[in-house]
Amino acid sequence: MKVKIAPSILSADFARLADEIRKVESAGVDLIHIDVMDAHFVPNMTIGPPVVKCIRKETELPLETHLMVDKPEWFIEEMAKAGADIITIHVESTQHPLSLIRRIRELGLKSGISLNPATQVDSIINMLDVVDLVLVMTVNPGFGAQEFMPETLPKIASLRKSIHSMELNNVEIAVDGGINVKTAPIAVKAGATMLVAGSAIYEAPDVVKAIWELRKSIEGVHWEP
Ligand code: DX5
Ligand code: ZN
Repeated sequence: MKVKIAPSILSADFARLADEIRKVESAGVDLIHIDVMDAHFVPNMTIGPPVVKCIRKETELPLETHLMVDKPEWFIEEMAKAGADIITIHVESTQHPLSLIRRIRELGLKSGISLNPATQVDSIINMLDVVDLVLVMTVNPGFGAQEFMPETLPKIASLRKSIHSMELNNVEIAVDGGINVKTAPIAVKAGATMLVAGSAIYEAPDVVKAIWELRKSIEGVHWEP
């Protein structure tokens, strides 16, 4: 599986979002990662469906909305209407992750399940056959530019192993948090198939070059069963 690159616009200039998205588009990225925070599930607040709706008009790239909110059920329909292609919810944010994931799929979207660094893989194993994406948080969610937590690597490896043995090879494993040219190869070797990166891309002096460098850093790096 070719490793996908998903810039997180959390570190972009929110006053110039369309331009910021165009920059990463020109570098040939695979999708746009949008962090949705509600100041309850995480101690930060970002953007919601109205902004996603505006972003939708600016790009053809798939939009993944990463819901870091206490009541994901409040946002699923709205995010779908706003034009999200993938909705990722946190397993810690609801008592009914499975039914929400099914709801996302019923709406014709791809579904993702995310887990915090402290959450074990066991909590989502029963969902692997109904999700398109597992988003492994490699920092505690809430803010960009934090340091990658290497203790999450065994979880990535164990997930990839499960996905492989269950023959669910279309399920992506995304890593989110502290991804840069140093940590990307380690995450890919452990089994990640998608790299979400915010500050490594948007805080770089040259965004296109930063994406090229990220790609270069994983050249020849593979997960092996
Ligand atoms: C953190 C967000 C991330 C964030 C990553 O809660 O989910 O998507 O933007 O930022 P970096 O790549 O700077 O760690
Ligand atoms: Zn995110």
